[in-house]
Amino acid sequence: MNTTSSTIIGGPHGRSDARAATMKAIVQQAYGSADVLRESEVATPVITADEVLISVRAASVNHADWVYTSGRPLIARLAFGLGKPKQVIRGKDVAGVVASVGANVTRFRVGDEVYAELEAGTFAEFAVAAEKLLAHKPANLTFEQAATVPLAARTALQGLRDGGKLRPGQKVLINGASGGVGTFAVQIAASMGAEVTAVSSGRNAALVRTLGAANVIDYGREDFTASGRQYDVILDLIGNHSLGKLRRVLTRTGTLVLSSGTGGRIIGPMGRIMRALLMSPFVSQNLRTFTPSVGSESLDQLRDLIESGVVTPAIDRTYPLSQVPEAIRYFAEEHASGKIVITVAQ
Ligand SMILES: NC(=O)c1ccc[n+]([C@@H]2O[C@H](COP(=O)([O-])OP(=O)(O)OC[C@H]3O[C@@H](n4cnc5c(N)ncnc54)[C@H](OP(=O)(O)O)[C@@H]3O)[C@@H](O)[C@H]2O)c1
Repeated sequence: MNTTSSTIIGGPHGRSDARAATMKAIVQQAYGSADVLRESEVATPVITADEVLISVRAASVNHADWVYTSGRPLIARLAFGLGKPKQVIRGKDVAGVVASVGANVTRFRVGDEVYAELEAGTFAEFAVAAEKLLAHKPANLTFEQAATVPLAARTALQGLRDGGKLRPGQKVLINGASGGVGTFAVQIAASMGAEVTAVSSGRNAALVRTLGAANVIDYGREDFTASGRQYDVILDLIGNHSLGKLRRVLTRTGTLVLSSGTGGRIIGPMGRIMRALLMSPFVSQNLRTFTPSVGSESLDQLRDLIESGVVTPAIDRTYPLSQVPEAIRYFAEEHASGKIVITVAQ
């Protein structure tokens, strides 16, 4: 595998100056397999007055990184760039130390330990964040642990709270409970006082029980849509059952939250989600997705949950920056138990 080149290109925002030092980053100049990701020497990014430069300690892998890499589903290229990605440095989640701040930045100082979910650019030694996207890192987590939180835990929190409107005492089923999002969702749902049923392989049953699942369904042995048991909320992170089958195991006024699935080559899971949204007004159940809200507010809420001991990241594997292609290949197999971490600096 060739992950090294000496190309010098612009930073995540395309800004660089002739005096800037260079840094190592994982860049992508075309869509394709993980082989399109190359470790390159690029210009260290330059911040504007509203931005913060982060010295990256760790990042983590998300489904969005694989979508960006592969350019699949094709509809994603409308946002990412038609022929090749507009933002060439991969990576969305980051934990690190503030290296410099713009003139208008008020909440952060050089040396602060921070974490964030960015549009791109975190598989690199330095990353640029708008101040509004940044939050102080949970004090009780390592940088590796903190880097697992922003996108996946935010998805879990917003999926259950905003999408599912989950209330104490309700029965919630999480399909895909042992993955990056699912391991946070089990813990957050349990902390909200719900009775959690986790759907995972038998291999991961002990993990999801430890995280707070009262019941575990091994998808290799039992189809939860045929069980006859009903749930107030289903958070579907896999998308492997028809809407009809999922509705059969929802209570009469239950809520199905779709956040999921690979789907077809062109529009991915969007077809299924659109069908659910169109059907929802005509049935007694709520079939919905949720609008992701990215920024410091959800990171501050997650920090409270983490520092109070309610939520702890589950980490499957850790790779160095140079091995991001291997990390993405492993993620694309869709069998990670928890999160995959990229260590950038000690
Ligand atoms: N809307 C949003 O903002 C948003 C954000 C992030 C993610 N997502 C979606 O959420 C989904 C999950 O993301 P992720 O990061 O958690 O993925 P992930 O980490 O790759 O999930 C892997 C997990 O899925 C489990 N799994 C595989 N097949 C399964 C099956 N048939 N039934 C139940 N579990 C199964 C695996 O368990 P075993 O290894 O035990 O088989 C593994 O633990 C993605 O499809 C993504 O599109 C949405």
